[in-house]
Amino acid sequence: MNLIVANESHFKYAQDICDTIAESAKVRGTGIAKRTPEYIQRKLSNGNAVLALDGDKFAGFCYIEVWGHEKFVANSGLIVHPDYRGQGLAKSIKAKIFELSRKKFPDAKIFGITTGLAVMKINYELGYKPVTFSELTDDPEFWKGCQTCKNFDILTRTEQKMCLCTGMLYDANNKKKTVEVKEVNSKAFTRLKSIKENLFLRKKEEKSKS
Ligand SMILES: CC(C)(COP(=O)(O)OP(=O)(O)OC[C@H]1O[C@@H](n2cnc3c(N)ncnc32)[C@H](O)[C@@H]1OP(=O)(O)O)[C@@H](O)C(=O)NCCC(=O)NCCS
Repeated sequence: MNLIVANESHFKYAQDICDTIAESAKVRGTGIAKRTPEYIQRKLSNGNAVLALDGDKFAGFCYIEVWGHEKFVANSGLIVHPDYRGQGLAKSIKAKIFELSRKKFPDAKIFGITTGLAVMKINYELGYKPVTFSELTDDPEFWKGCQTCKNFDILTRTEQKMCLCTGMLYDANNKKKTVEVKEVNSKAFTRLKSIKENLFLRKKEEKSKS
């Protein structure tokens, strides 16, 4: 498996990446910010993406987004092709994109929002902490990305304070103050997610009935 910082020579993989992201979201039944092949290609050409290739077969992908005048960066669009899951590939891709983010944007806080336990675990091990949305970028362009998510009405209803996703943040400046905790509490996260789903999705159903 080859983990590389992608460039224009990898444009041919953009459609495959988009299709795999869209297919996986459909299978999971969760919301997702939609990406077009053109958007992915922009990430490839500015050196802000990591691609995992098995020979010349697409195996995984993740890219960097820059927000709030480089005060924040997000490592987004993580996808591992179904044929390559459960082998630690997502972990390696995230470690590589994290390292690239730290190198290219050393003063930026790194954040993500996710409903996925796997991503939560990986981020936690990299030193991210769960935070409220108020700690994340207020760049409207970032939040616009949520418009294509099927849960967007929840975010609107809560005035962008919360949603089904959990916000996670890596702040290099706070690193020294934090205690080293390496194991994520999966049960707590799963319970939090189910509370949020009960709370937000029930309200949504009640609203649509009335
Ligand atoms: C989520 C995804 C990226 C994981 O890829 P992967 O290569 O199988 O993940 P890894 O093998 O590196 O696993 C990393 C950790 O997550 C755990 N994990 C992986 N898939 C999981 C799942 N579906 N549910 C819960 N935990 C999971 C692994 O057990 C491992 O934890 P450990 O270190 O405690 O053993 C992959 O399933 C995927 O592309 N899914 C669809 C897209 C998606 O959900 N992207 C995230 C958007 S927020």
